Amino acid sequence: MTLKLPPLHPAQAAIYAHPARFKVIACGRRFGKTELGKQLLLHHATNGGVTWWISPTYGMAGQVWRDLRQVLAPLKPTVTTVERRIDLEGGGVVAVRSGMTPDFLRGAGLDYAVLDEAAFLPADLWPEVVRPMLIDRRGGAAFLSSPNGRNHFYHLYALGLDPQQPEWAAFHHPSHDNPRLDRAELEALRATLPDIVYRAEILAEFVDSAGQVFRDVDLRATAPADAVPHADQRVVIGVDWGKSVDYTVCAVIDANRGVMLALDRFNGLSWAETRRRIADLARRWNAQVVWAEANAAGDVNIEALIADGVPVCAFQTTARSKPVLIDKLALALEHGELALLPDPVLLSELNAFRVDPMPLGGYRYSAPAGLHDDTVIALALAWHGARASTVGIGFA
Ligand SMILES: Nc1ncnc2c1ncn2[C@@H]1O[C@H](COP(=O)(O)OP(=O)(O)OP(=O)(O)O)[C@@H](O)[C@H]1O
Ligand SMILES: [Mg+2]
Repeated sequence: MTLKLPPLHPAQAAIYAHPARFKVIACGRRFGKTELGKQLLLHHATNGGVTWWISPTYGMAGQVWRDLRQVLAPLKPTVTTVERRIDLEGGGVVAVRSGMTPDFLRGAGLDYAVLDEAAFLPADLWPEVVRPMLIDRRGGAAFLSSPNGRNHFYHLYALGLDPQQPEWAAFHHPSHDNPRLDRAELEALRATLPDIVYRAEILAEFVDSAGQVFRDVDLRATAPADAVPHADQRVVIGVDWGKSVDYTVCAVIDANRGVMLALDRFNGLSWAETRRRIADLARRWNAQVVWAEANAAGDVNIEALIADGVPVCAFQTTARSKPVLIDKLALALEHGELALLPDPVLLSELNAFRVDPMPLGGYRYSAPAGLHDDTVIALALAWHGARASTVGIGFA
């Protein structure tokens, strides 16, 4: 009885056939890492081996569990759903685990372990839990992941490159080495993802400053600090509302030239005083439009500003819209489309701003704990406004 498995593509096949005991496989998204891992696991299990699949989250483990069950169904195995364990006739075992519950992972000897998205698994899982379980049976392991900076997965990758470590092998492939992926789609990603994210997630590079969103920030600080209102400017203002501890920030840019004109950062004012200050700023610069966040304090303040005749557009910040907003600003800076004021707070907040890839895909953008991002958000809103359609907007 043979299993129905798709034929591996050439880069997958070369890794599959490699004789190393421990394989560290750093590849871009959609390369086919998980499929390769499944076939490695099934090879050992169908030859009587006890095998474990480990994913970072319960949800990811669940997907693989369903796939493996389906693939193995023709062998009529014994399936123990609560334990996510499949026992095959010849003694082979497939168990699927999530790395979130490492205690649950301790157990008897293993012949083979697959650690999927290993860069996103807890760092101590391999040395403290999995490696000791491979001792009895001299088991092997595959580590599959896209890189996550120079973390523990990078250290394993380095072992694979070290000629003094004959049991280890390292493999590196960008997403492009999966011949089934659409080239145009990959090119579109290059244009739309910030460079740093593209290099980590698609080219599978262990980028040093992984997580830094805005690059060459200081080189972009070329806007004159003494700009004045001028008739041929098209002025857009972005506003990030201060809550109790942080600042209200207004970023003023000339959308025609891609130049930052002013930055107003303040706190300790009542909402009425805050609105008056924003309205004054908008009038002084004859702003075409003010873009402000609609959440929390935003809604009522935007309504009041509009009632006062200030042209305000509301931006709805969500888990979906925020990455797009930030990515657009990062690309504008990378492409030199926006000159920044040499404001030390702005430059340090831009430099500190992080992106963290999440194991299930997508990214979380935020300031590191304890730091602010008000100037970043205000500037991103202004840039968004500069690129949005502004027909029919202006002072009432
Ligand atoms: N050799 C293959 N033949 C046919 N389809 C394949 C092959 N390898 C992978 N695929 C399919 O391509 C898609 C991506 O593969 P897979 O999920 O293994 O990639 P991945 O590198 O783990 O992706 P991600 O970065 O999203 O985790 C899946 O739909 C998978 O079923
Ligand atoms: Mg995968």
